[in-house]
Amino acid sequence: MLSLRSFLVASGLPLLLPLVTGSPVVPRYFQRSLFSRGNISVNTVEAELGAQLSSGSLIFGPDDPLWANATSRFDTLVRPDVQVVVEPATEADVSKIVTYCNENSFEFLVRNRGHGITTSLSAFSGIQINMEQLNGVDINADEGTAVLQGGTFARDLVPQLWDAGYVTTTGASPCVGILGPALGGGYGRYSGLYGLALDDILHYNVVLANGTAIGVNETSHPDLLWALKGAGHNFAIVTSVVKQIYPKEIDTWHYHSYVWTQDKLETVFEALNVFHKSDNGTTPPKMGVNYGSIIMNTSVSTTEAVLEWSFYYAGPADEAEEILEPFNAIGAVAEDVFDASYPEVSTLTDGNCQGAPIALASVLTVEYNVTAERELYDLYVANVAQYPELAATAYAWHEGYATAGYQAVPSDSTAFPHREENHIMFFATVVPDGSGLLDAANAWAKDSRDIWNAGQPDRLPAVYVNYAAGHDYETLESIYGYESWRLDRLRCLKADYDPQNRFRFYNPIVQG
Ligand SMILES: Cc1cc2nc3c(=O)[nH]c(=O)nc-3n(C[C@H](O)[C@H](O)[C@H](O)COP(=O)(O)OP(=O)(O)OC[C@H]3O[C@@H](n4cnc5c(N)ncnc54)[C@H](O)[C@@H]3O)c2cc1C
Ligand SMILES: *[C@@H]1O[C@H](CO)[C@@H](O)[C@H](O)[C@H]1NC(C)=O
Ligand SMILES: *[C@@H]1O[C@H](CO)[C@@H](O)[C@H](O)[C@H]1NC(C)=O
Ligand SMILES: *[C@@H]1O[C@H](CO)[C@@H](O)[C@H](O)[C@H]1NC(C)=O
Ligand SMILES: *[C@@H]1O[C@H](CO)[C@@H](O)[C@H](O)[C@H]1NC(C)=O
Ligand SMILES: *[C@@H]1O[C@H](CO)[C@@H](O)[C@H](O)[C@H]1NC(C)=O
Ligand SMILES: *[C@@H]1O[C@H](CO)[C@@H](O)[C@H](O)[C@H]1NC(C)=O
Ligand SMILES: *[C@@H]1O[C@H](CO)[C@@H](O)[C@H](O)[C@H]1NC(C)=O
Repeated sequence: MLSLRSFLVASGLPLLLPLVTGSPVVPRYFQRSLFSRGNISVNTVEAELGAQLSSGSLIFGPDDPLWANATSRFDTLVRPDVQVVVEPATEADVSKIVTYCNENSFEFLVRNRGHGITTSLSAFSGIQINMEQLNGVDINADEGTAVLQGGTFARDLVPQLWDAGYVTTTGASPCVGILGPALGGGYGRYSGLYGLALDDILHYNVVLANGTAIGVNETSHPDLLWALKGAGHNFAIVTSVVKQIYPKEIDTWHYHSYVWTQDKLETVFEALNVFHKSDNGTTPPKMGVNYGSIIMNTSVSTTEAVLEWSFYYAGPADEAEEILEPFNAIGAVAEDVFDASYPEVSTLTDGNCQGAPIALASVLTVEYNVTAERELYDLYVANVAQYPELAATAYAWHEGYATAGYQAVPSDSTAFPHREENHIMFFATVVPDGSGLLDAANAWAKDSRDIWNAGQPDRLPAVYVNYAAGHDYETLESIYGYESWRLDRLRCLKADYDPQNRFRFYNPIVQG
């Protein structure tokens, strides 16, 4: 459904709308680079930018029926101040939008699927560039690649490739963008075989901070290629990528989930540590991931938390069950087992797509510390008793992706600094509106994170850039790497490619 305004832009008709809200009409040549227009109004942007964009592009403000979806956030505690939404219909439009913003000193921010969870996004105020129309997928079977536009997302891409006989690396969740995760890493069910989502991107078409469009690959701007692979949100807008794809090889994945009572906690984590080294020192590459939570399941107990774990295997049940034998032996109170196509298995994590005000803190670790996990459990049940309003949604989440694919890539070859780590963990809870429990929830998250970090006393705290929540205790080094050359190099590249720090809203390398 298009509003009248959207329609006018879409049809490319010249607009004769008045300039409003006191935006001074100053000839461009009088403007200094940091000239400020004051308020941004949708009418102004339509009048000035609309006619430059290709037909099908949209420009709209808060009165438009499209606004609510276009500005929705997975985590509603993340509050960028979006004044106008611009939705480019072609990649070439992106350059024009950025140039327009620069000429008028409007800030711009890409929104892909709105699942970015860092509160650093709340510092933004300006024009949001929505990517949903840039969702083209072009498979080149001869080359073993696909061209993906910058707004493609897993829910569309995974079945599209599968039906054509291919898979590629993406985030594991159907609701996140491809590039959102890939700019900072991109863990998914194919990481064990093919690496992170960024590892098989061969070429990027990007728009730089000054509006210039360039191609980036090993022979064209290789320095920027390095930065896009791990710190990409700080450097450019990606309008499309050339990504490797792989023949799917199998028809079904095997799924097996378990619910264990808390008395099994030590046994479970010991078994997981063995399992994650069981294939010649690494996680069996086809056991794409196992996810597990310490969580309340009131059908088991109203006072004790349980462990809920699920395993995903790229292959037949008999192969998978052989590897899962130690977990079958533990004795679960409930299990679920089936085989399904990859697109079907991918949508099993659909349940986590729904947004809410969510407090969260995360860590990366090399292995599970059983003592620390028991402490985490004790903290969890104590807080469940103290904060019944949080108990229904609070969980301590553990991810065990297969790592062989991404650990085969040399650490210094990309800006992604965390190839050594095997696990991502986070605590998350919905903070019900009006509950007044935001501080309590944040403290619970931080205490969980501190317990996990204390469980690896020989390592410095590490955070996945895409799970960083914007807390002041998440240092730049913990996100972008402790080797001093990493941040040095990123800052040098920032000075070259984004000297005015236009890209500074997603866990920024350079503040302000
Ligand atoms: C429910 C859920 C599931 C998740 N699952 C996974 C997972 O399986 N694996 C994983 O690795 N991570 C996962 N994450 C973390 C995820 O990587 C980040 O939340 C990511 O930012 C989401 O991208 P998005 O496009 O949905 O979000 P957005 O908020 O739209 O994008 C986040 C930021 O990325 C930048 N950006 C996005 N697209 C572009 C582009 N084309 N060009 C330039 N900049 C761009 C912008 O700075 C934007 O602010 C998950 C997060 C959630 C909330
Ligand atoms: C911006 O908008 C607000 C509210 O509409 C108004 O009070 C203010 O004067 C405007 N500022 C400028 C610089 O136009
Ligand atoms: C908003 O998104 C929801 C869920 O995807 C969809 O059902 C609805 O039609 C969308 N609304 C508009 C106005 O596009
Ligand atoms: C690298 O990028 C340049 C610039 O876009 C392009 O001309 C060239 O074909 C690319 N090379 C490869 C191997 O993709
Ligand atoms: C196991 O790992 C060692 C050391 O990394 C390597 O040399 C050997 O080839 C591996 N064996 C198999 C079967 O993968
Ligand atoms: C909760 O436990 C019951 C067994 O008592 C199980 O059937 C159910 O699947 C569990 N719920 C979740 C969400 O795992
Ligand atoms: C495990 O965690 C405990 C509690 O924080 C800590 O004392 C211990 O040193 C950790 N063990 C290892 C091997 O790191
Ligand atoms: C845009 O920025 C790039 C990288 O800094 C630079 O090489 C290029 O010359 C700039 N283009 C213009 C038109 O200023």
